[in-house]
Amino acid sequence: TPFNHTTHWPHPNGTLQQLPDIIIIGVRKGGTRALIEMLSLHSAVVAAQNEVHFFDWDSHYQRGLDWYLSQMPFSYPGQLTVEKTPAYFTSSKVPERIKRMNPDVRLLLILRDPTERVLSDYTQVFHNRLQKHKYLQPIESLLLRDGELNLDYKALNRSLYYVHMQNWLRHFPLERIHLVDGDALIRDPLSEMKKVEEFLDLEPQINASNFYFNRTKGFYCLREHGRERCLHDSKGRTHPRVAPDILQKLYGYFSQPNRKFFQLVGRTFEWN
Ligand code: A3P
Repeated sequence: TPFNHTTHWPHPNGTLQQLPDIIIIGVRKGGTRALIEMLSLHSAVVAAQNEVHFFDWDSHYQRGLDWYLSQMPFSYPGQLTVEKTPAYFTSSKVPERIKRMNPDVRLLLILRDPTERVLSDYTQVFHNRLQKHKYLQPIESLLLRDGELNLDYKALNRSLYYVHMQNWLRHFPLERIHLVDGDALIRDPLSEMKKVEEFLDLEPQINASNFYFNRTKGFYCLREHGRERCLHDSKGRTHPRVAPDILQKLYGYFSQPNRKFFQLVGRTFEWN
């Protein structure tokens, strides 16, 4: 019989597709690729390769859970499946939809200094545009309008973490959402990953030999079964230099929202 991708029937080698037990919900440019790659170092975890956009894109959501399941990687029974779609965090309809699938799903949210995240967001969008149009709109023209911060610039809204977090907390208790410090993950991936293992009740497996600092890349890279690999070149780009007075405006803009976020989650981060 031909294998039907939309069922739980096992593949001849004993693997099957399973709905995710773990979802990395964001934030965009927080370090979501690094997190899912590092989590896959664990033998009990299998990760979806692509961003599935099931819960945020209506055209996908309407296809139902069978379609979602068909997007999942093959795994052994007992292994945990993880997918990451960074756009979930800032999409207001997503928390309710995920809860409807599985209220016990474990959520990972990786966050980074909000200003740094904006610069990273800009760099990503305009790198893509640069390839197509060979023109790079300077960041100042997006950040500023008449000398003041342009609050219509979408990247600013995505860094208002408390706004989006409030929406998640209407549907999930804080204990189900593990916050990963994206700045710490860059500096010291092992200690952040140990906390993730603990939150997921995984046997501690990820260890110091899984990471080595690559001077050329300027980031930690991964070592697994003796094989070494770094993330793609699109991860760890140089950000545009922004004039100090504009940076101050950004720090000022995020200062209150950051404090609200710290209150909401009962912990602080070392953000500007
Ligand atoms: P930059 O490219 O702006 O530096 P995402 O995968 O969510 O798009 O996040 C990308 C960010 O992951 C990168 O942003 C980079 O700072 C961060 N990152 C964290 N750990 C990394 C690693 N080991 N290698 C490369 N980038 C890493």
